[in-house]
Amino acid sequence: MKPLAIPLAGVVGSPVAHSLSPRLHGFWLRKYGIDGYYIPIELSRDSFERGIKSLPDLGFRGVNVTLPFKETALSIADDITDRAALIGAANTLTFRKDGRIQADNTDGYGFIANIRQHAPDWAADAGPAMVLGAGGASRAIISALLAEGAPEVWLANRTRNRAEMLREHFGARIKVIDWTKIQTELAGVTTLVNTTSLGMQGQPALQISLDRLKAGTLVTDIVYSPLRTELLDKAAAKGCVTVDGLGMLLHQAAPGFENWFRKKPQVDDDLRAAVLAT
Ligand code: ATR
Repeated sequence: MKPLAIPLAGVVGSPVAHSLSPRLHGFWLRKYGIDGYYIPIELSRDSFERGIKSLPDLGFRGVNVTLPFKETALSIADDITDRAALIGAANTLTFRKDGRIQADNTDGYGFIANIRQHAPDWAADAGPAMVLGAGGASRAIISALLAEGAPEVWLANRTRNRAEMLREHFGARIKVIDWTKIQTELAGVTTLVNTTSLGMQGQPALQISLDRLKAGTLVTDIVYSPLRTELLDKAAAKGCVTVDGLGMLLHQAAPGFENWFRKKPQVDDDLRAAVLAT
């Protein structure tokens, strides 16, 4: 007798115990009455490729990939979406019936979907965007902002060289700004994004004055712990439109869930509450 195919998915990382993804996908599985499971999977660097390649035979339809495997995930994939190639990293792997592994990156999609949901009047092409930070999250966000039509992305990073490397990668619409000049340049932007870990619980504060920020500027933070960062509070007090970072996490998960469990999930307040519940 053919065994019942219970769809499985998970998140692969190291460490992975802190990941909110199992809670998030678990909420959707229950909500839609899907008889499937989503689990955390801890792999070492040495066992990553072998581990991933064993998953399809166990019934896995795919996995999310988190630190430190987002770049390695690209190198073991058979097919790579354009956006994952542009970002240079993958967060979503889908195991296809023909045995091929598809790598996608939904972080930039999640970033934009979150803003659209909470600030529907925002337009990327209204003016330059300033992005703070030049790590992996920044790459995904820059590529999304450029794809959405931001005329320029002004990029500031503590280690200037990393910002220069992203300029090389993404081209002339990127303007590198010195980390010490952020405050003076703020008057010229219509979007401000923090992609650094500054402001996160247990991390140093993001110490910039927002005095020159124009009212109406869209300000968003990828930090979601705390949900209302000091940056968002200060920006809201200046009359800016603020969007917290939790929605990016929720939205980036949706394409994977749809691929693996064949149901387009809703990102709504119930999901936020379930993910925030301790
Ligand atoms: P991720 O992939 O999550 O973006 P990352 O690659 O470690 O993580 O990037 C973290 C970002 O936060 C970087 O832009 C980092 O700046 P550096 O490139 O100079 O390291 C930034 N960051 C972390 N701690 C910082 C601090 N104390 N001051 C300023 N920037 C900081």
